[in-house]
Amino acid sequence: MVDETQLRAAYDAAGQSHVFAFWDRLNADERETLLEQLSRIDPEHVNRIVAKALEADAAARNASNARVEPPPADSIVATPPADSTPYRARGLEAVGNGEVGVLLLAGGQGTRLGSSAPKGCYDIGLPSGKSLFQLQAERIARLQTLAAGGSKPVVPWYIMTSGPTRAATESFFAENNYFGLDKSNVVFFEQGTLPCISNEGKIMLDAPGRVATAPDGNGGLYAALRAPLSRGSDNTVLKDLESRGIKYLHAYGVDNCLVKVGDPVFIGVCIEQKVAAGVKVVRKTDPSEAVGVVALRDGRFGVVEYSEIPEELAQAREASGELQLRAANIANHFYTTEFLARDVPAFESEMAYHVARKKIPTIDENGERFKPNTPNGIKLELFIFDVFPHVDRLAIHEVPRSEEFSPLKNAPGTGTDDPQTSRRDLLAQQRRWLTEAGATVAEGADVELSPLVTYAGEGLEKFAGKSFESTENVTA
Ligand code: UD1
Repeated sequence: MVDETQLRAAYDAAGQSHVFAFWDRLNADERETLLEQLSRIDPEHVNRIVAKALEADAAARNASNARVEPPPADSIVATPPADSTPYRARGLEAVGNGEVGVLLLAGGQGTRLGSSAPKGCYDIGLPSGKSLFQLQAERIARLQTLAAGGSKPVVPWYIMTSGPTRAATESFFAENNYFGLDKSNVVFFEQGTLPCISNEGKIMLDAPGRVATAPDGNGGLYAALRAPLSRGSDNTVLKDLESRGIKYLHAYGVDNCLVKVGDPVFIGVCIEQKVAAGVKVVRKTDPSEAVGVVALRDGRFGVVEYSEIPEELAQAREASGELQLRAANIANHFYTTEFLARDVPAFESEMAYHVARKKIPTIDENGERFKPNTPNGIKLELFIFDVFPHVDRLAIHEVPRSEEFSPLKNAPGTGTDDPQTSRRDLLAQQRRWLTEAGATVAEGADVELSPLVTYAGEGLEKFAGKSFESTENVTA
């Protein structure tokens, strides 16, 4: 039972008592719902993180003061095929020992894509009609097979959802029988939410008995690892990682159809480099590309988002003609479990939330809902790479774009990072793999290879000399 008097005192002390402004108009159910929601928010904590976020935001606006430089050359490991073999072997050994887990960031709402379903449900138009989730699931299955040296290794899949994506994501997996994976190795959890804050620093309401909230960004991951997997559960992702003996985790964004889920080369690079955290990058060649870049900011590792890079710096080139800031972040991260369980909690309170100024639907003084025409408040988000400034060493693994990065961000027909470019890039990769294996693929034939057949182009020798004349989905 939530104690109304205690809650009122806490909100009063934090200068947020207006959340009770419509109390007299609420019926018993609405009062109970409001109290329950308010009991999950610590108003003093909210005040603290808002103050810190606004301070950091003001400092960032003054970014001309910050020194932004490319990361040191010795933190970057590139793996052309000839060099990747030992890393792959090291990574596969870890997978085979059951030490590797994968974590999908699937809490975003994908508003730019214009689909109301979670992004992972999206069908980019491949011959098979597979969703992004299915491609990822089958890569996990194949990875388990590749690493099986007599044993049956399991790569558990942790799926971070948010309030807006959880139910639809879980039901999509259930309807599709977890894409052939063992359900007990697919673990759903949910990132947190935070209240939206008015321009006056007040917790906003979007109904007389409800606080307006928003997901806390993909950096909400760190707190979510310690939260109950679902209401009432006493298990958490961190406990699950530890009980399964997972030492290394690959976390990645949902929208990249080329993502190498649990990539043994990346895992191998990070293990060999003995780092607690790593990130994958591709080479940025177009200064206007909408990606963040891994850089040093005032001497500490970080990602400078595309919206934050001053034009002149984005355009700056080396004598060789390459962009100075060219380590494009593709939202693929590596962590040791130890780092997540021990190091992150020690510095977490130092990370400042980012401020997004938004038009937030709210209520007026009569309790009537309206949508403002200009930004009336802020949403607070942490980014997954906000831990970077807190590590002394970061492995930056540079991979070829054509093999590893083609994100789905925009609506069909946009021409960049849309379903058509995703489909094009995946099918071009499969054509390359088949050609390298000695097969021929006729002009105009779209040949898709199931990830259950090949993870990264291996095992295709059986197609040498074969001629693919028409569009086909190869499943064996
Ligand atoms: C992200 C990176 C950017 C990188 C780009 C590459 C961040 C903050 N930025 O940008 O540096 O160049 O990908 O494609 O990571 N998500 C959640 N919860 C949230 C918000 C997002 O789980 O509250 C997930 C999304 O579902 C997605 C991933 O995080 O899987 C990235 O989010 P998205 O909004 O697509 O980030 P971008 O702005 O594209």
